[in-house]
Amino acid sequence: MRKQIVAGNWKMNNDLAQTEALISKLKAQTKTTDAEVMVAPTFTNLYQANKALENSTIEVVAQNMHFAENGAYTGEISASMLKSIGVNTVILGHSERREYFNETDELLAKKVDAALAKGMRVIFCFGEELADRKSGNEETVVGNQIKNGLFHLGAAAFQDIVLAYEPVWAIGTGETASPEQAQDMHAFIRKTLADKYGNDVADEVSILYGGSVKPANAEEIFSKPDVDGGLIGGAALNADDFFAIVNAF
Ligand code: G3P
Repeated sequence: MRKQIVAGNWKMNNDLAQTEALISKLKAQTKTTDAEVMVAPTFTNLYQANKALENSTIEVVAQNMHFAENGAYTGEISASMLKSIGVNTVILGHSERREYFNETDELLAKKVDAALAKGMRVIFCFGEELADRKSGNEETVVGNQIKNGLFHLGAAAFQDIVLAYEPVWAIGTGETASPEQAQDMHAFIRKTLADKYGNDVADEVSILYGGSVKPANAEEIFSKPDVDGGLIGGAALNADDFFAIVNAF
């Protein structure tokens, strides 16, 4: 049975005091489902967040990392550094990093390899632009992102891969993909995996939906057979809203 996961991507939000305050509210929440829960604070707050959540069921994950082990990469963070503070999962390929920091499929493939080499779990993000969908090219775009970023891997690697489909036009816009749109794309993604690695692998990979998931729409989206949870942005910054989504399965 593949895992149900709800991960909160805090993006560039919350200083240390705000991080501690939000974590206190998250720890006071009650989880009524079997979903795995993750939160992704900014780099400066990862250590403190991980310590604050060490006795909870909430996993602290990183929003990014560099592919190198160390070296002359000013401002970057390596997998080993994340592991050294107890962070074992990293988000890679978020559309904001693809757009603002020119992260290519090739660069992301190197980051995926570096994370897996250190025994980390990867939440691999991808999704089409509005223009791609309007022109009917969403499956081509998403398929290429997945193939170029992940299909150099062997089947066993997918035990440590979580996929996150985030249509760019739905991120932060309130324009959530319909449950049917999400299911159609997730089914396409799972078939793309199955065509390459077989059904046994594809059926075990968790595929999350991200893009304006809110307490009001989470249950219907999560009810779809190929949707295994969500990658949550804005709603993750409010403990009540985030756990309303966690408990929406
Ligand atoms: O990584 C999750 C994020 O991109 C979704 O943001 O605010 O639309 O939930 P939001």
